[in-house]
Amino acid sequence: MWGGRFASGPAEIMEEINASIGFDKRLAPQDIRGSLAHVAMLGQAGILPAEDVAKIEAGLKTVQGEIEAGSFEFRRELEDIHMSVESRLREIVGPSAGRLHTARSRNDQVATDMRLWVRDTLDALDGQAADLQQAMAELALTHAGTVMPGFTHLQSAQPVTFGHHLLAYVEMLNRDRGRFRDARARLNECPLGAAALAGTSFPIDRHATAASLGFDRPTANSLDSVADRDFALEALSAAAIAAVHLSRFAEEIVVWTSAQFGFVKLSDRFTTGSSIMPQKRNPDAAELVRAKSGRIIGALSGLLIVMKGLPLAYSKDMQEDKEGTFDALQTLSLCLAAMAGMVRDLEPVPEVLKVAAGSGYATATDLADWLVRELGLPFRDAHHVTGRLVGEASSRGIGLEALPLAVMQAEEPRITEAVFAVLGVENSVASRTSYGGTAPDNVRAQAEGWLKRLADETA
Ligand code: ARG
Repeated sequence: MWGGRFASGPAEIMEEINASIGFDKRLAPQDIRGSLAHVAMLGQAGILPAEDVAKIEAGLKTVQGEIEAGSFEFRRELEDIHMSVESRLREIVGPSAGRLHTARSRNDQVATDMRLWVRDTLDALDGQAADLQQAMAELALTHAGTVMPGFTHLQSAQPVTFGHHLLAYVEMLNRDRGRFRDARARLNECPLGAAALAGTSFPIDRHATAASLGFDRPTANSLDSVADRDFALEALSAAAIAAVHLSRFAEEIVVWTSAQFGFVKLSDRFTTGSSIMPQKRNPDAAELVRAKSGRIIGALSGLLIVMKGLPLAYSKDMQEDKEGTFDALQTLSLCLAAMAGMVRDLEPVPEVLKVAAGSGYATATDLADWLVRELGLPFRDAHHVTGRLVGEASSRGIGLEALPLAVMQAEEPRITEAVFAVLGVENSVASRTSYGGTAPDNVRAQAEGWLKRLADETA
């Protein structure tokens, strides 16, 4: 393709380090879409005669068919997807193929292909994240009133409901989806026609190619067009944050399914056995979702480091954007699917959750709040009284609700029988009616709200 001034071919090892066809062949559909838009524009602008345009278009469609059928032969000596497609096109249509590359370069071509791929992938991830939200909101609705321990520092803090806990993730996923969409909106400008770096002397119509590829507009600066990989960085950063969210729920599934917690049961479909320990049911899928966040974060750091300090405009360094971006976004897709599957198969165990919710003096705050509300104690004093009562109960090895009234009155004489009502976990969660709080009625309304929002989105 560029052999004019070369007397010999590349060294074997040069070919190996230089070639990207092994991984950029997945850009074939985007590459052909871009070429079809480009050649149509070249025809409309009168840069290429109609018969060349027709030949090239037909040829590109043949190549597309071969790639889809799996009969296309990818050859390393052709370096990358752009040259592979063009070289095959030449075999099919002859010398007219050479006119396709008028007024463009592989630099604007690869930037366009990558934007198209990332855009398609972000759209798909958004849909998958919505599906996971759906699964979580459905389970949240069923368990709007199922009490469980709420933790801070992984220490029993205050009772919450299982539905409330799930809806926390629905919120996170919603921010993730917002980031996918933001990234998509900023990405949606077309670099095609920036050519190698400076633009072109041909009278091309960049607005036409941008529109035909579904971009909002052409990019405004030709140097930036070929030198920018922000769109991949933004997609990776949104993916990394989403992966971190998934890893947190994955970790909770791992902990909750252990015999020591027993909070939830995970179906056989999402667990594995051990070859030596017959009793084992390992939450491998959750462990892998937890772990795979590592390579997604790694891809983001990797590309940030590739781009750091790169002078304008294109450098071959930028070819290193691909493997990490492909792998990370595909990995996130797998994690979202696995998580949706697990959530749909997850069975909370209400009896265990309820007992756990009451252990660890989780209603101590309810007692302190009662002292404030009913006896008018300043909160700091109520905190102190409650702390002493927890100490007393703890030394007797019993819960707060089992502490005799006389013992409580020894600490604060005005305490009455009525206090016992707030020491139960059900009452505790029911009282948390502040906006965004864990009261079952709140949780039910929020779960219903999410389900409606998700249904409206797809309607
Ligand atoms: N395979 C290259 C990449 O992925 C395409 C652009 C090559 N451009 C060049 N001037 N060598 O970045």
